[in-house]
Amino acid sequence: MRRSYHFISIAVGLFGLFIALSANGLAASPGGTGQKKGKSQCISCHEKVSAGIVSQFLAGKMGKALDCSDCHGSEHTSEADVAKAKLPTPETCGRCHAGRVQQYREGKHALAWAAMKAMPMLNHQPPGVGGGGLKGCSACHKIGEKAASELTRYGSGACDSCHTRHSFSVKEARDPRACRTCHMGFDHPQWEMWQTSKHGTIWELEPTSGRAPTCQTCHMHDGNHGVMTAWGFLALRMPEDDKAWLEDRITILKAIGVLDEKGNPTERFDAVKGAKVARLDKESFDRERNKMIHTCSSCHSRSYAETNLKAGDDIIRETDRIFADSIRTVKALYDDGILKKPADWKYAPDLLQFYEAKTAAEQELYLIFLEYRQRAFQGAFHANPDYMHWYGWAKVKEAATRIKEDAENLRREKNK
Ligand code: HEC
Ligand code: HEC
Ligand code: HEC
Ligand code: HEC
Ligand code: HEC
Ligand code: HEC
Ligand code: HEC
Ligand code: HEC
Repeated sequence: MRRSYHFISIAVGLFGLFIALSANGLAASPGGTGQKKGKSQCISCHEKVSAGIVSQFLAGKMGKALDCSDCHGSEHTSEADVAKAKLPTPETCGRCHAGRVQQYREGKHALAWAAMKAMPMLNHQPPGVGGGGLKGCSACHKIGEKAASELTRYGSGACDSCHTRHSFSVKEARDPRACRTCHMGFDHPQWEMWQTSKHGTIWELEPTSGRAPTCQTCHMHDGNHGVMTAWGFLALRMPEDDKAWLEDRITILKAIGVLDEKGNPTERFDAVKGAKVARLDKESFDRERNKMIHTCSSCHSRSYAETNLKAGDDIIRETDRIFADSIRTVKALYDDGILKKPADWKYAPDLLQFYEAKTAAEQELYLIFLEYRQRAFQGAFHANPDYMHWYGWAKVKEAATRIKEDAENLRREKNK
C-alpha cells in the first residue's frame, strides 16, 4: 500500500517535472544538443541567486547553445538540494570537445596534479598549503587532471584555467595574460621574462599586429592544447652525447633520487617517466625542438632560431657544471659522516625535499635547483638577458661559494 503510494507520487512528480522542463524548453536538449529555447529553471532562479554567473554565461558563445544543466546536471532544482549539483571535470567538456580534451591529455598540463603529488616534500606540509584548500601548490596544479578517487568539490574543472568560467572566452585564452597567474614568480617567471623581452615589449606596443610572439604562439601552435617542451621544467634529458655533461647530469639525477648510488633507476624514475618530467629518448626531445624551430622560423631565419636555442642549451650545460659540483660538496658531507640522513628521508641529499632541507648548505642547493638554475636557462630561452645573467647565473655562482664555505665550516667544527 505504502509502496504504491510512493510510486504514484513519484510518477506524478516526474510528470509535473516533465511539464515544467518542457515549458522551459529543457526537455528539448537532453545532454546538451546545443538546441535551446527560452529560459531554463536554472537560469530563472540563478538570475537571483548568482546574477554574475548567469550574465557572463549568456554573453559567451556557449550561453547561446547550452544550459547550466549541460555541465552541472539536472538533479539539483532548489535551494534545498544544492549538494546534488554536479561540478564538471575535463570528462564533462569532452562530451562535446573530444579533440581538445585528447590534446590536453597528451600534453603536460593534464599531468600537473600527478607531478605535484609525486613530490616527497608535500608529505611534510599541512593539507591547506600543499594538496588541498586550493591556496598553495594545488591552486596552480589543479590545471592537471585528477583520478576519480581524487576529485574534490571544487578545483577539478581544469579546462576553465585559461578560458575561465562562465564566459569560456576564446579571446581571453588567446591573450598571454591568461597564462601569467601560474607561469610567474619564484621558479618559473616566464611571464616576467617574456613581458620585459623584445617579444613582450612589441606585443604590449601593438597587441593586435601579430608582429611579436605570445606564449600561445610558441607553446600552443595552431591552438594545440598539448603543451610540451623539449627540456621541460627540470631540463634533464636522456641520453646525452657530451660525456662531461652526462656525468654532471647523473650527479643531479642521483640528488633527485631518480638514480641510486650505483646509477640504477629507482621507483622515482618511474614517476618521472609517468609524469613525462623529462624527455627520455632523443626522438621525443628532437620532435619538440623541431616544432619550436619551425615556429620561430615564421619570423626569423632557421639558422637564427637554431643558434639561439643552442645558446640556451649551452647555458644549461654551464649551470649544470656548477650545480653538480655543489651537490658533490654536500654529498661528501654525508659520505664522511659530517651530516646524518634524516630518519624520514629515503635519500640524502634529496633535492625533492625543497625547502625542507635541514642545513644551510642544502637550503642553498635548493635555491640553485629551483630558483637560480631555472632563471638562467629559462631567461636564455625567453630572450631575457637580465634573468639569464643577474637573477640566474650570478646567483648560481654566489650560492656555490656559500655552499663551499659552509661545508668547510662544518668540517672544521667536526674536527675540533
Ligand atoms: C529555485 C532556485 C534554484 C534553481 C531552480 C536552481 N538552483 Fe542552483 N543553486 C541555488 C542556490 C540557492 C544555490 C546555492 C547558492 C550559494 O551557495 O550561494 C545553488 C547552487 C548551485 C551550484 C553551485 C553548487 C556548489 O556546490 O557550489 C550549481 C553548480 C548550480 N546551483 C547549478 C544549477 C543548475 C544546473 C540548475 C538547473 C538544473 C539549478 N542550479 C537550479 C538555487 C537554484
Ligand atoms: C560548459 C560547462 C558549464 C556550464 C554550461 C555552466 N557551468 Fe558552472 N561551472 C563550470 C565549471 C568548469 C565550474 C568549476 C568547477 C570546479 O571548480 O571544479 C563551474 C562552477 C560553478 C559554480 C560554483 C563555483 C563558483 O564560482 O561559484 C556555480 C555556482 C555554477 N558553476 C553555476 C552555474 C550556472 C548557474 C550555470 C548556468 C547559468 C552554469 N554554472 C553553467 C562549468 C559550467
Ligand atoms: C553539450 C555540449 C558542450 C559541452 C558539455 C561543453 N561545450 Fe563548449 N561549446 C559547445 C558549443 C555548441 C560551443 C559553440 C561553438 C560555436 O559556436 O562555434 C562551444 C564553445 C566553446 C568554447 C569557445 C567559446 C568562444 O568564445 O568561441 C570554449 C572555450 C568551450 N566551449 C569550452 C568548454 C569547456 C571548458 C567545457 C567544459 C567545462 C565545455 N566547453 C563543455 C558545446 C559544449
Ligand atoms: C604559481 C603557481 C604554482 C604553484 C603555487 C606551484 N606550482 Fe608547481 N609548477 C607551476 C608551473 C607553471 C610549472 C611548470 C613550469 C615550467 O615548466 O617552467 C610547475 C612545475 C612543477 C613541477 C615539475 C613538473 C614537471 O613535469 O616538470 C613540479 C614537480 C611541481 N611544479 C610541484 C609543485 C609543488 C610540490 C608545489 C608546492 C610546494 C608547487 N609546484 C607550487 C606552477 C605552480
Ligand atoms: C593553457 C590554457 C588552456 C587550457 C588549460 C585549455 N584551453 Fe582551450 N583554448 C586555449 C586557447 C589558447 C584557445 C584558442 C586556440 C586557438 O587559437 O584557436 C582555446 C580554445 C578552445 C576552444 C575553442 C574552439 C576550438 O576548438 O578552438 C575549445 C572548445 C576549448 N579550448 C576547449 C578546451 C577544453 C575542453 C579544455 C580542457 C581539456 C581546455 N580547452 C583547456 C587555451 C586553453
Ligand atoms: C618566442 C617563443 C616563446 C615565447 C613567446 C614564449 N616561450 Fe616559453 N619557451 C620557449 C622556448 C624556446 C623554450 C625552451 C624550449 C626547449 O626546451 O627547447 C620555452 C620553455 C618554456 C617552458 C618550459 C620551461 C622553460 O622555461 O624552459 C614553459 C613552462 C614556458 N616556456 C612557458 C611560457 C610562457 C607562460 C610564455 C608567455 C609568458 C612563454 N613561454 C613565451 C619559447 C617561447
Ligand atoms: C592554472 C595554472 C596554469 C595556467 C593558467 C597555465 N599553466 Fe602551463 N603549466 C602549469 C603547470 C602546473 C605546469 C606543470 C605541469 C607538469 O609538467 O606536470 C605547466 C606546464 C606548462 C608547459 C610545459 C613545460 C614542460 O614541462 O615542457 C608549458 C609549455 C605551459 N605550461 C604553457 C602554458 C601556456 C602557454 C599557458 C597559457 C595559454 C599556460 N601554460 C597556462 C600551470 C598553468
Ligand atoms: C611572430 C613573430 C616572431 C616569432 C614567432 C619569433 N620571434 Fe623573435 N622576434 C620577433 C621580432 C619582431 C623581434 C624584434 C626584432 C628583432 O630583433 O628581430 C624579435 C626578436 C628576437 C630576439 C632578439 C631579442 C633582443 O633583445 O634583441 C631573439 C633572440 C629572438 N627574437 C628569438 C626568437 C626565438 C628563439 C624564437 C622561437 C623560439 C622567436 N624569436 C620567435 C618576432 C618573432
